[in-house]
Amino acid sequence: MNNDENNEHNIKPTDLRGILKYVPMFRDHVFVLALDGSLVAHENFQNVLLDIAVLRSLNIKVVLVHGIGHQLKLLAETKQVAITDPHGELKTDAATLKLATEAAAVVSLEVMQGLTRNGLRCAMCNGVRSKEVGIVKGEDQLSSGAVDKLDEVLFDKLLAADTIPLVTPIAFSREGTTLRINSDLLAAELASKLNASKLIYMTTQDGLKIDDQPLTNLPVGDLETLLATSPEKIPERLRSKVKHAVKAINAGTPRAHILDGRFFGALLNEIFDKVGIGTMVYSNDYQSIRRAIQADAHSIYNITRNGVRTESLRERSQESIEAAISDYLVYEIDGSIVGCVNLKSYDGGEMIEVGSVYVLPFYQNKGVGRKMVEFACAEAKERGSNRVIAMTTQASKFFSKVCAFTEGTVEDLPAERKQDYLKNGRHSKVLYIDL
Ligand SMILES: CC(C)(COP(=O)(O)OP(=O)(O)OC[C@H]1O[C@@H](n2cnc3c(N)ncnc32)[C@H](O)[C@@H]1OP(=O)(O)O)[C@@H](O)C(=O)NCCC(=O)NCCS
Repeated sequence: MNNDENNEHNIKPTDLRGILKYVPMFRDHVFVLALDGSLVAHENFQNVLLDIAVLRSLNIKVVLVHGIGHQLKLLAETKQVAITDPHGELKTDAATLKLATEAAAVVSLEVMQGLTRNGLRCAMCNGVRSKEVGIVKGEDQLSSGAVDKLDEVLFDKLLAADTIPLVTPIAFSREGTTLRINSDLLAAELASKLNASKLIYMTTQDGLKIDDQPLTNLPVGDLETLLATSPEKIPERLRSKVKHAVKAINAGTPRAHILDGRFFGALLNEIFDKVGIGTMVYSNDYQSIRRAIQADAHSIYNITRNGVRTESLRERSQESIEAAISDYLVYEIDGSIVGCVNLKSYDGGEMIEVGSVYVLPFYQNKGVGRKMVEFACAEAKERGSNRVIAMTTQASKFFSKVCAFTEGTVEDLPAERKQDYLKNGRHSKVLYIDL
């Protein structure tokens, strides 16, 4: 498939300004990129190399890990050798190891050639020490390996010398025994040990879809639940990446991405666009509710404008938001504000109104609205209020069914708010919850 013409996913020149915004944010960060063997063989691989060159020019430290499944399968077919497993997820017998070593050499050289063509310095090293997987469920995994130890000092030195470490899925044990390691696992280990800020799996598969819905952005907890309850919903060839993405995040890597590398510009798009084309999984710590600060006023104004347009929110100027900034809470995902809520006190704090509850459409139906309202109610309780009220034109069911508010009447409002309600003519529904 040639996706060069697939403009839908192309980075437009005007997006350069968007990229520049991220330059200070990612400078000197480590990104671990895991390239499937099939991607190295794909015609878009040359463009992936160009994207890597852009990352390097922005001073992002890149570690490359490559897979060999595709090449190993082809070699086995050509040589008519029966292999135990092309993907390094099961056991590796002697014949498979022999071909895997050959495949790894071919892929490494190809990647190295491509990097050279793009003026990028790289090095292969023995910085990964492996150990036998051993016996699993009664079966000897033979020459399948796991990571025993990473020589972080060596990797750090290479990165500090503007060199891309190129890591192959063949590694040696302490005694020098050759073992095959699954490249998804290898990349996840490297990401957590090298304190990478991103682990990016690049495949030649459609991104992660569940029940035909593309998953573009989700907290790691959701993926863990999916793995535990319905792993069959995850496409088979992506399961190992999903499993290792979860492991890496739980071991401290803030974000992992699973991305179809066949699209032109896919890598840059995923990293520098707010909503990339792959699946980004983030650590639960990267979503949070916090009190707004002055610098958030513009974002709050921008995101709520949409609600004003559809008349679900009352109009508020940026100045009025700035003036009352400490009354706002914002919901942040991965550094971006995706939702807000305003808390206004009446009757000396006896009652608090939650207003301007807004969640960006892309993030709706993911529990953000409910969490913000719950947080606001907890905060109101802490401040000594005994009732929280909400007025809404279009979301009364959200408050009643999801947030357990009760439908009330204008009589349930504090006197000051009642006057305004009768004057503004919005005929909002009144809801309240007693704390
Ligand atoms: C209302 C709003 C804040 C909800 O945020 P959210 O993050 O999408 O909501 P959550 O994910 O926490 O909750 C999702 C649930 O709420 C329901 N829901 C969300 N908006 C709803 C609405 N307008 N009417 C009825 N139900 C709604 C969903 O159907 C879903 O129900 P389910 O859990 O039974 O499937 C968001 O839709 C929004 O910003 N709307 C536009 C602005 C608005 O109307 N604000 C209220 C004015 S104060």
